[in-house]
Formats: sequence, C-alpha cells, structure tokens
Amino acid sequence: MDTQRPLVCPILVGRDELLGLAMHWLSDAARGRGGLRFLAGEAGIGKTRLVGSIERQAIASGFAAVRGGTYPGDLEVSGAVLLDLARNLRRQERFAATGRAITDRLLEAPGAGTVAVSDESGDAHRRRRILALDLAELLGSLSARGPILVTLEDLHQADDLTLAVISTLAQSAMSAPMVVLGTYRSDELYPRVPMRDWRSLLLTKRLAEEVRLDRLTPEGTATMTSVLLGRPGVVPSTLAATIHQRTDGIPLHVEELLGMLTAGGSAALESAAGADVPDTLDDAGCRPRSCSPGTSTSRSRSASAPRRRRRPRAISPRRATHP
Ligand SMILES: Nc1ncnc2c1ncn2[C@@H]1O[C@H](COP(=O)(O)OP(=O)(O)OP(=O)(O)O)[C@@H](O)[C@H]1O
Ligand SMILES: [Mg+2]
Repeated sequence: MDTQRPLVCPILVGRDELLGLAMHWLSDAARGRGGLRFLAGEAGIGKTRLVGSIERQAIASGFAAVRGGTYPGDLEVSGAVLLDLARNLRRQERFAATGRAITDRLLEAPGAGTVAVSDESGDAHRRRRILALDLAELLGSLSARGPILVTLEDLHQADDLTLAVISTLAQSAMSAPMVVLGTYRSDELYPRVPMRDWRSLLLTKRLAEEVRLDRLTPEGTATMTSVLLGRPGVVPSTLAATIHQRTDGIPLHVEELLGMLTAGGSAALESAAGADVPDTLDDAGCRPRSCSPGTSTSRSRSASAPRRRRRPRAISPRRATHP
C-alpha cells in the first residue's frame, strides 16, 4: 500500500514576473485589446499552477474564467479540448447556452467528437472549415457578456480542428475583451504534432504571444523546500542545494522528492541534508504519487524521477537547455 503523503506547495514560488505580465494581458483585454497567449514549459514546470493564479487574478479584476483541457490520446479525438471547454461553460449559468451550442455543433458534425475523420475530399474540407468558423464565432460571443479569460490546456495534444478554431478566435480576440490562454509542453512538440507548425505560424504572424516558464532558481527551490517542510528560512543550505541539484528546479519533482524524503522520516531528511539523497526511487524504497510502476528503475540518475503524464526519460542532474 502506498502510504506516501502527497506534498503540494501552498504558495506559488518564483512566478511574480509572469503574474505581472498576465496582469498586463488582462488590463489590455479589459480595454478591448485581448488576444492569444501561450504559456510554454516542460512537464511539471507549473503551467497549470500558474493558470490557476492567473484565473484568480482575472476573476478579481472582473473577468469571467473558463478552462478546457485535453488528455493523452486527444490528438485522435476531433475537438476534444473544445468539448471539455463546452462542458465547463455549461456549468456557468450565463454561458450555459453557448456551452450547449458548442457541444451540439461539435457532436452533429460528422467525425467531430469522435476519432478524427480522414476524409479529405473537398466537401469534408469545406464542412470542417465552416465548423471551425462556427465554433470560433460561438466562442467569440462569450466576450459580449464582459471580459473573459478562456484557458485551453495542453495544446500539444490538440487536433487540427481545435487549432483551426483557436486561430480564428485569436484574430477576433485581438479586438475584444478576451484573453485566450493556451498551455503546452515545450518538450513535446515533436515533428508530427499538429501544434508545432501552427504555433510557429501564429507567432510569426504576430497572432499570438508566448512566454516560457523557466525552472526554479536555487533560491526558488530553497523557498519551496522550506515552505514544504514547514520550516521557513531554517532549511540547511546543503539540503536545499541537494534538492535543487536532484530536481533541476522542476516544482513537481521538488514536491515529489520532498514527499518521498518526509515519508522516510527525519533520518531521511538528515541524510539528505548531508547530500545523501538516494539516486533512484527504488533505492529509496518508495515511489512518488505520480510515478507509474516499472518506470523508475530505468532512470539511472533520477533521485526525483517522478514523472506525471509524461514520456519516461532520465532526469539528468545537469541543467538541460529548453528547446
Ligand atoms: N511556481 C510554483 N510554486 C510552487 N509549486 C509549484 C509551482 N509550480 C508548480 N508547482 C507544483 O508542481 C506541481 C506540478 O505543477 P503543474 O501541474 O502546474 O505542472 P504543469 O507544467 O502543468 O505539468 P504538465 O505538463 O504535466 O501539465 C503541482 O503540484 C504544483 O502545485
Ligand atoms: Mg498542466
């Protein structure tokens, strides 16, 4: 039985600059100059966590906020992120009718909401184009009720229809009180992923702006460590340095490594303070909450090794350069 206590950092560390930038996006949008913005970063870097903080800022500034997500395999499902968004719209009374209209439109379209159609005949192409325009129009109409933040998560998993809708929406949002916020894993834009070329085109045409979430600095990791251990300011510097080295400043890994160490009791923490952190989760005799069975043993230098919803690869103790 897994008795490990999941640790979640109660404060947002090291993202003040990005939150400040998001405030600019929101205030521009409130004046009718919204648009599409990307939050890019590797798995576990804190995109979703930052989205949560931006949503709270937006709501405090009088915006409505709605989010749609994708899941592994959604590349095969036409309009999956839009279906999820529509489901969340239906939960907010003022947007429920639009949510229903988006769902209906997606489900009535041949191939949409199911496995993507491969029929590329002229008719199918035209129907998909009309569908994309209709859906973008429905989404654009959300801002008629006041400023709104629409977040679309994990676009590296989005299909062509979703991306076509977002392109059209990006243009209308530029003169509307609407911020469309898209997140994606920068380390998963493989050559055949639809978002790859789509994103480059939008950035080149200035139809979108992008910011990248960096790994935490050693100071940021030390702050997270002290907050997670409930010992503000009194964490030994050797422990903080070891945690940073082993996690590369990726917040998810910091949470999971500390979860693992605290589950091991004070002895584990004391050895970690002496830089005696186990090299792998198996060495530590336990696994983090997000680690699927059978993956950690293959990560030769992976103390944290925790990987959630991501392809398995070793975590190097050296800083990797972002693509
Ligand atoms: N800046 C931060 N300060 C404190 N905790 C953070 C920070 N960023 C992320 N976390 C924590 O790290 C974990 C992973 O964050 P999150 O799920 O946002 O990553 P992500 O980039 O969205 O990952 P994925 O690509 O898998 O969706 C969460 O438990 C979150 O609470
Ligand atoms: Mg996420």
